[in-house]
Amino acid sequence: MELNLSFLFFVFFISLSFSPFLHSASVPSGLENGSYSNSHSRRLFVKSQPQKSADVAKGYMTNSELEAAIMAFGKRCSNISRIYSIGTSVNGVPLWVIEISDKPGQEEAEPAFKYIGNIHGDEPVGRELLMLLANWICDNYLKDPSATLVVESVHLHILPSMNPDGFSLKQRGNANNIDLNRDFPDQFFPMNDDAFGRQPETTAIMRWSREIHFTASASLHGGALVANYPWDGTQDKRRNYYACPDDDTFRFLASVYSRFHHNMSLSDEFQGGITNGASWYPIYGGMQDWNYIHAGSFELTLEISDNKWPPANELATLWNYNRRSMLNLVLSLVQTGVHGRIFSSDSGRPLPGFITVEGINYTVKTRRVFADYHRLLAPGGRYIVMATVPGYRSKTTHIWLEEAATTVDFILDPVVTPKGNLLQSACECNCGSLSRYGFVDFFQGGHFEVYAILIVALGFLCFLFQRRIKHNLSKQRQYGPKRPVAV
Ligand SMILES: *[C@@H]1O[C@H](CO)[C@@H](O)[C@H](O)[C@H]1NC(C)=O
Ligand SMILES: *[C@@H]1O[C@H](CO)[C@@H](O)[C@H](O)[C@H]1NC(C)=O
Ligand SMILES: *[C@@H]1O[C@H](CO)[C@@H](O)[C@H](O)[C@H]1NC(C)=O
Ligand SMILES: [Zn+2]
Repeated sequence: MELNLSFLFFVFFISLSFSPFLHSASVPSGLENGSYSNSHSRRLFVKSQPQKSADVAKGYMTNSELEAAIMAFGKRCSNISRIYSIGTSVNGVPLWVIEISDKPGQEEAEPAFKYIGNIHGDEPVGRELLMLLANWICDNYLKDPSATLVVESVHLHILPSMNPDGFSLKQRGNANNIDLNRDFPDQFFPMNDDAFGRQPETTAIMRWSREIHFTASASLHGGALVANYPWDGTQDKRRNYYACPDDDTFRFLASVYSRFHHNMSLSDEFQGGITNGASWYPIYGGMQDWNYIHAGSFELTLEISDNKWPPANELATLWNYNRRSMLNLVLSLVQTGVHGRIFSSDSGRPLPGFITVEGINYTVKTRRVFADYHRLLAPGGRYIVMATVPGYRSKTTHIWLEEAATTVDFILDPVVTPKGNLLQSACECNCGSLSRYGFVDFFQGGHFEVYAILIVALGFLCFLFQRRIKHNLSKQRQYGPKRPVAV
């Protein structure tokens, strides 16, 4: 009897653990007509929801309509986009992402931006506006300069819905009724630190953010009209302005959004239409602070409509109110800040490393393949920028940042150890002057044969060595746009 019971449990668990695979195997293309939450294998986990009025969702895309719209976009705009999924929700809905770029899916020395909509299931305006944004860019590429600039100099990743289950349940949290914007690891309190306790939507975002290395990002919310920036929490849990190291940069980025919005900057409640998160109301486990601390991404939380779920006939107006802001926030990645790459002077290769700015306790990492960095900074300031790579001598440069972006490439010398590169030390010891003037002296002396052979050989090696460096440097540097400054 005991054995039979445990056998039954065994069968039960095996079927539970296989049911997600069975489910996804039956929906290979990801395009299906019905709602995913109807899947019987998932019913076990989802508590039944009270029937709510369907009116509120009228005119909004359902999850399967959104999926179809994403796939249709991918087909229509295949020359400048790619569709991929970063995981699935609790109920098994794929979290589809649209990447927009002239070289989607490829590594380039360009910054990446991500937009996330619908992290709160009952705030669906963002998911609609993000589809309108993607389609607008596709329609206006090579016609409108902003659309063209986004496609050609940024990799824009758009996740229209981070919480499709919450959307279909018309609730803030996901299918487990967890608020995803409280589910990230927190800097002040040891909450959400257990990787296995996290929601699948949160895990997907964290893995994705570590993989792509976004320069900046924003999530779209509803219920207010304001651009919110870090920190979101305070150490003492009190409501207070709590500035992060990049407070000036963030105030600038948030202002880009509010300034180009229809009337966000006219807010009575928030001066200039922007707010520090903690001075509004502190939250813990939010996505915004996590991005800045752990993913190197300057993230804003954008509240884009006072009404969380406005009638669908207002969506076109909301799109008009937000269009310029959404585009210009992405474009601030290439129109402001300091950008460039780090190279090694001995081989000319890209050198992944770190960029710091004096007076700002924050380190920006270069990206791996091209060692390009994109350091957002508030315009109109004097900055001292330093490039650091272990094993190389750091270099520092002063810049005056106007409204436009500045480009600075760093070419770093290796730290020469006593038993370092002999050939390089020989070349650095002025072998140019030796070969020019040295010969004369030696030829005038009697014992020149041995020296002459040695010097000619050394000179030839130096020549080969320096030619290789120049060749490598010019080969590497021709990838990016024209680089006016190198230090
Ligand atoms: C989805 O529905 C359409 C019409 O409503 C039908 O033509 C199509 O075959 C259906 N697709 C699947 C996968 O059930
Ligand atoms: C912005 O405009 C909308 C629509 O015209 C209006 O409802 C809202 O109150 C305005 N908000 C501010 C802060 O001016
Ligand atoms: C800089 O930030 C780190 C955390 O990222 C912190 O540990 C350190 O104390 C800060 N340093 C200063 C000088 O504020
Ligand atoms: Zn929200």
